[in-house]
Amino acid sequence: MTDPRRIVLDCDPGHDDALALMLAAGDPRIDLVGVTTVAGNQTVEKTTRNACAVATVAGLFAVPIVRGADRPLLRPLRTAAEIHGESGLDGPPPVVPTVRTRPGHACDFLIEAVTASPGEVTIVATGPLTNVALALMKEPALAEAAREIVIMGGAYGRGNVTPAAEFNISVDPEAAAVVFDAPWRVTMMGLDVTHQAACSEEAQARISAIGTPLGVFAGQLLEFFRSTYRREQAMGDPPVHDPCAVAYVADPTLFETRAAHVVIETRGTYTSGMTVTAFVASGEGSRHDVGISVRRDALFDALTAAIAALG
Ligand code: RIB
Ligand code: CA
Repeated sequence: MTDPRRIVLDCDPGHDDALALMLAAGDPRIDLVGVTTVAGNQTVEKTTRNACAVATVAGLFAVPIVRGADRPLLRPLRTAAEIHGESGLDGPPPVVPTVRTRPGHACDFLIEAVTASPGEVTIVATGPLTNVALALMKEPALAEAAREIVIMGGAYGRGNVTPAAEFNISVDPEAAAVVFDAPWRVTMMGLDVTHQAACSEEAQARISAIGTPLGVFAGQLLEFFRSTYRREQAMGDPPVHDPCAVAYVADPTLFETRAAHVVIETRGTYTSGMTVTAFVASGEGSRHDVGISVRRDALFDALTAAIAALG
């Protein structure tokens, strides 16, 4: 096996962010250097508390967790309580976190972790891109130093907040524009592929049946996520969006991607937050790749194994 891929996970837990954190921490192909939190699904106070709660249940006492931006670059914050609940992690009995955050700001942690090891660290972002944009604006050399960035966000097809925009991009389109315009490789795992990662009742039952506190916790998260996705999005099985971004780093062969050029609409009355995607013939020097399909069963095999491995 090749050396594990070193990543920093920037996230807004959130149910699927929580599962992405479990995958990043438990999959042997990933070395989780740190976690940064951002406002998105809920306020940054809540997403940070939730990250610490997941780390507590998973026993991640050595992984730095650093709090980030409490609002988008320019716009007021829009949260997603209708999907993730008032706490941002509704469903399981509340967890009193014993894992604490490290001091400092997420954007500084991102800069330090990536520039300390040029070419080695991948940023995986599963929430609005505010922290990543702040880091790029503060230290433009971040783009050169990072191995790549893989995001969950956007869509070359329809959005989920508006017909044009997916939630993570719609919350902070200006930050997304900074990230996609920067001179680094960006892989966009958008709704087109993450909606294929629907969690069946059987897959959920397999995770719950792990039987550890983390397995039971993950099953309870999925049950709540199932209820809100059924009510709000009329989807029978909830899509686990964020683990797709982590899984792509762990095993790119789980996915089909296509070379593209993506620009972000920041001014449209009805299209703000749209990831306007032009597919290009591979090798035309595009810096962007877009997820097209995922091998769903293998994705859930990896997620289940990671949760079981954390004990
Ligand atoms: O649109 C889905 C994305 O928005 C996921 O990352 C989910 O956690 C929310 O942040
Ligand atoms: Ca998220």
